[in-house]
Amino acid sequence: MHNQALLAEARAIEDWVIALRRRIHQQPELMYEEIETSRLIRDTLDELGVSYRAPIAETGVLATIGTGDGPCVALRADMDALPIYEEVELDFRSQVDGKMHACGHDCHTAMLLGAARLLKQREDSLPGPVKLLFQPAEEGGAGGERMRSEGALEDPAVQRIFGLHVMPWIPTGEIASRAGTLLAATSALKIIMHGKGGHAAAPHMSVDPVVAAAKAVVEVQSLIARELDPLDSGVVSITTMHGGEVFNVIPQQVELTGTIRALTVEGLRLIQARVKEMVEHVALANRCRAEVDFPGHDYPPTVNDAHCWDLARDIGADLLGESAVSESPPLMAGEDFAYYLEQVPGCFVGLGMQNEAIDAIYNVHHPRFKADEAALSIGVALHVAFALASQAELASG
Ligand code: NI
Repeated sequence: MHNQALLAEARAIEDWVIALRRRIHQQPELMYEEIETSRLIRDTLDELGVSYRAPIAETGVLATIGTGDGPCVALRADMDALPIYEEVELDFRSQVDGKMHACGHDCHTAMLLGAARLLKQREDSLPGPVKLLFQPAEEGGAGGERMRSEGALEDPAVQRIFGLHVMPWIPTGEIASRAGTLLAATSALKIIMHGKGGHAAAPHMSVDPVVAAAKAVVEVQSLIARELDPLDSGVVSITTMHGGEVFNVIPQQVELTGTIRALTVEGLRLIQARVKEMVEHVALANRCRAEVDFPGHDYPPTVNDAHCWDLARDIGADLLGESAVSESPPLMAGEDFAYYLEQVPGCFVGLGMQNEAIDAIYNVHHPRFKADEAALSIGVALHVAFALASQAELASG
């Protein structure tokens, strides 16, 4: 492997990658609205002479470099931003109030375009196709599932897939992941507690949904404490509560939302079922009626193939040094890269992006999240190395 040479090549196009990343950062677009981002990707691929299929999954782009029936591997980047007001002072700050690339997907897209450029330069020597998946709607829209169901992993069949995600709690120049389950299965939760409104001075003539909702919030926590195996992991977080308008009126209803997390689909289903049962019965015990829903898409857990992480770890060590690669514990965050890993082996790898010197210390989804652009060329080199090494392995084995 010539990973150091790859890193040098990636550094040589660093300015180009950073410029792309900044253009995407300035124009953040939410899930399935990635119109300009998609256009920028297609224009860039056109400039590079890379062929692609678009649209796929509404605003996605599926590029292919290399031909033939040799091993086909895939690399993936997500494209969508978040409904967050950016609080970072930058020359290329978000130009759309209330929208921000706070999860680093601008970096992911730019790095994959960088990989496209380097792979295109060596297209003639590739033993088979490399597919580049630019997917929309990671943030709750299950864009990965759409890409999969619209054939991104077929024809030719992808044999391995890799993805990178910025990790701002790991220093720039390092990577982390693990074999097996890296990220959780996730679900949204919505509860409407129906009561009967009335004068706050006459609670006996009303049915108070506020008290019932408060009990439900506390009660569901006992599921995690008392019903889940202490060696297993699960989360129920109630994150919003809305009810009532006036201090002296008992409201008609209270709405709660939140999220449920577990490390397996079965674990997620179990917690969902028990949350529903528990909240409905707390409602009943308090003369209320509860509607419990799990809206949107439940994401499966992100489960890495052990061999693919071995390969990524070796590449990381070769590129960045032994000490730059670490084993990550499982995290209760979710990721729709999980949908690809349900179908083909692969690995989702965390790319270090923490740099105190430039205030890049905030977690993703924070309004002050700041990417360390010094990590972008590392990401480009990793992408290319993952693809080349996997193709070489698959071709010889
Ligand atoms: Ni993300």
